Amino acid sequence: MSSFEPLVFSGVQPTGNLTLGNYLGAIRKFVALQDTHDCIYCVVDLHALTVNPSPKELTDGTRSIAAAFLASGIDPVKHIVFNQSRVHQHAELAWIFNCVARMGWLNRMTQFKEKAGKDRENASVGLFAYPALMAADILAYRATHVPVGDDQKQHLELTRDIAQKFNNDYSSDIAGLGLGVPMQVGDETVQGFFPLTEPLIEGPATRIMSLRDGTKKMSKSDPSDLSRINLTDTADDIAKKIRKAKTDPEPLPGGTDGFEGRPEAENLVNIYAALAETTKDAVLGDFGGQPFSVFKPALAELAVEKLSPIADEMRRLMADPGHIDSVLASGAERASVRAEKTMVDVKRIVGLSA
Ligand code: TYM
Repeated sequence: MSSFEPLVFSGVQPTGNLTLGNYLGAIRKFVALQDTHDCIYCVVDLHALTVNPSPKELTDGTRSIAAAFLASGIDPVKHIVFNQSRVHQHAELAWIFNCVARMGWLNRMTQFKEKAGKDRENASVGLFAYPALMAADILAYRATHVPVGDDQKQHLELTRDIAQKFNNDYSSDIAGLGLGVPMQVGDETVQGFFPLTEPLIEGPATRIMSLRDGTKKMSKSDPSDLSRINLTDTADDIAKKIRKAKTDPEPLPGGTDGFEGRPEAENLVNIYAALAETTKDAVLGDFGGQPFSVFKPALAELAVEKLSPIADEMRRLMADPGHIDSVLASGAERASVRAEKTMVDVKRIVGLSA
């Protein structure tokens, strides 16, 4: 290889219902990237274990995310769709990365701090080491691009740190085995084994906020179902949640500078812009000066128009779990071949095999 082959990798956890945030921030981008890139999309069931789902929740959740991928338009034949636990190389590489990553790096992870809360002593080791497994997901394929929402930015920086430290620590071994790929580091060209993966975090939907609190991220784990739109919500649920979404008494502003201090108004306009694949300015061009009693029904109609076909297709797919399982099995078989190639080289580099 004279340089890293462009490859897209991303993952979604099978915990709870997928939200509009997951769809607009990630899955819709996964679909678009298929036209230009080789793509691998993973249901990260090992990561889900860090929040202790019941066995049934985990199995059903895994199928449901796979169904959402397919219903949204991901092609599992041209690209790869699988669940993480079926490709054991992820867990194997994660252990090696646990030995590369430093406690201090992981201690800085804001998602760990949020999820562990005050009782850190009682958090699982898995929750702490979560980002090293995420790095392994990506680097098992030496993926170059990772589409995610804004909340994953810090984890992707850590993935780069792990790749860089591995490349540095083993640089002479990598070069000696002829496994290096030329990489530009400052003015120097060095031989690295892992790419410094680029996050793809752009567009209007990198951070969709809660419908109940415009300063909080829309999340599958929010206790209030009214805070989010789930991909599987019915048209009536979607309309009700948008009708009940928190707003303020003012009409919509004429331009985006009028969003100052109005996070809920901005979030709804942002959602409209993302669903319509336009900009907030264009939405305000149509709705600026209008009250929410006019804007909310228009937003509900657009959301239903975009999401109902996906929900219908997900229901159809979920009625045949055997089919979903066979898609995942075929994806895992193809992913394993690629991940094993990386692991064979990694084992030689670190000295686990001659
Ligand atoms: P997860 O399952 O929490 O979320 C899946 C994707 O959805 C994005 N997302 C959002 N985007 C915009 N607005 C929101 N409110 C919102 N909520 C979630 C997330 O940024 C993510 O892209 N750690 C990852 C899963 C993972 C992974 C990986 C991702 C494991 N290994 C390797 C990429 C590459 C996670 O928990 O995502």
